[in-house]
This record gives sequence, structure tokens and C-alpha cells, in this order.
Amino acid sequence: MKNKKGLFITVEGCEGCGKSTQSKLLKQYLQDKGFTVVLTREPGGNIVAEKIRDILLNPSFKITSLCELFLYEASRIQHLSDVIKPNLQKGNVVICDRFTDSTIAYQGFGRKIDIKTIEKLNNVATEGIKPDLTLYLDIAPKTGIERAKIKNDFTDGDRIERETLKFHNNVRKGFLTLAKMYPDRIKKIKNQDTIANTQKLIIAEIEKCLKI
Ligand code: TYD
Repeated sequence: MKNKKGLFITVEGCEGCGKSTQSKLLKQYLQDKGFTVVLTREPGGNIVAEKIRDILLNPSFKITSLCELFLYEASRIQHLSDVIKPNLQKGNVVICDRFTDSTIAYQGFGRKIDIKTIEKLNNVATEGIKPDLTLYLDIAPKTGIERAKIKNDFTDGDRIERETLKFHNNVRKGFLTLAKMYPDRIKKIKNQDTIANTQKLIIAEIEKCLKI
């Protein structure tokens, strides 16, 4: 990307891994260090992409795997253009809760769509923009889903959360495979007993990456 001055951090993981909480804490930490930080998410992050999110997560809709894939990519294209690119050009830190690795993990390893096809679509949607750093928060899906249920933001779950445990275990395999393939970019953070202890591991990675 031309004129990219900012830093692009993505946060990834299975359901209930604590990404959203850790993303917020990371935003605060970096702001306290003097960075201008934008926290955003996929699917979503702007008006059009949030509308697509509503379709994607609505449990009453039956959506084919390919339609699902294209909707995730469509929401990404608008989000990239409206939020990610302008902020990186301004020199801001962009923290994105989920990005292209989720598409490989969920639509590739979960739905079994050909990985090469997804890589091609990811590339088109992102114009080749890659995260500088990806924090992958690793948790066993069974534990994550139980945690999400306790937190009460699950009830019966959205359209993706309602998938079988086998599906979610395959998604985790996807993330673990990606972490092995791209060790320089993707840092695997093992979920700790407390939010604060997981945050310590994240901060250690961030300090290495930013040399702060
Ligand atoms: P998320 O906002 O993380 O939901 P929650 O906070 O409830 O965990 O993500 C919504 C769902 O979208 C999640 O189940 C993963 C799924 N997803 C994909 O299947 N493919 C993708 O490319 C992305 C970005 C998300």
C-alpha cells in the first residue's frame, strides 16, 4: 500500500477467546503510550459492513458457504476502503478484531472451501494489505463456547456460533496451521487464567514489535 505510515494489528481466535476484551485493553495501552488508535472489527466496522454483518450472523437465514464467503469479503472491501486504509495512511494504529485469517479458518477449515480460492479473494479484497502483527488468542473451542455462554452474550448463539463443536475444532486447526505458516506475523497467545495475565503476554509481543 502506498503511503502506509501506520501500524496494522489484527486480533484473531475462536469463539469466547477474549479477543474483544483484549483488543479494548490493547487500545487503551497504546493510547497511554501516545499512539492514536482506531479499534474496529470484521465483519463490520462501518455502516455498510455492519449491515452485511447483520445478514451474516442472523440465525434465521440459510446461507450457502460461497455466499457467506463473498459476504465476508464484500464487508471487508468497504471496511478497508472507509476505515482501515485512511487510518493507516494518517499514521494511526489500527486494531482490527478479526480479519483475513478468520476467513481462512472459518470458511476454509470450517466450511471446507478451497483455501487457494479464499487466499485469492482475500488478496483482492485487501489489495494485498497484510497486518504487521496478528495476535492469535488460542483457546479450546469447548472452553471458549462455555465461557461465552457464561458471559451471557451467547444465549443460543448467532448463525456461526451455533455450528457444531467439530466445526469450531476445525476452525482452531485453521488458526494453528496459519500460526505455524507465518510465525513472523502471527503470535500465538495461550489463554491464561486471568484477563490480566493474558494481557501481559500480549503487551510483551507488542513491545517486541514496536520496540517500546
Ligand atoms: P465476532 O465479531 O468475533 O463475534 P463474537 O464477538 O460474537 O465472537 O465474529 C463474528 C463471527 O464471524 C464469528 O463467529 C467468526 C465469523 N467470521 C467468519 O466466519 N469469517 C470471517 O472472515 C470473519 C471476519 C468472521
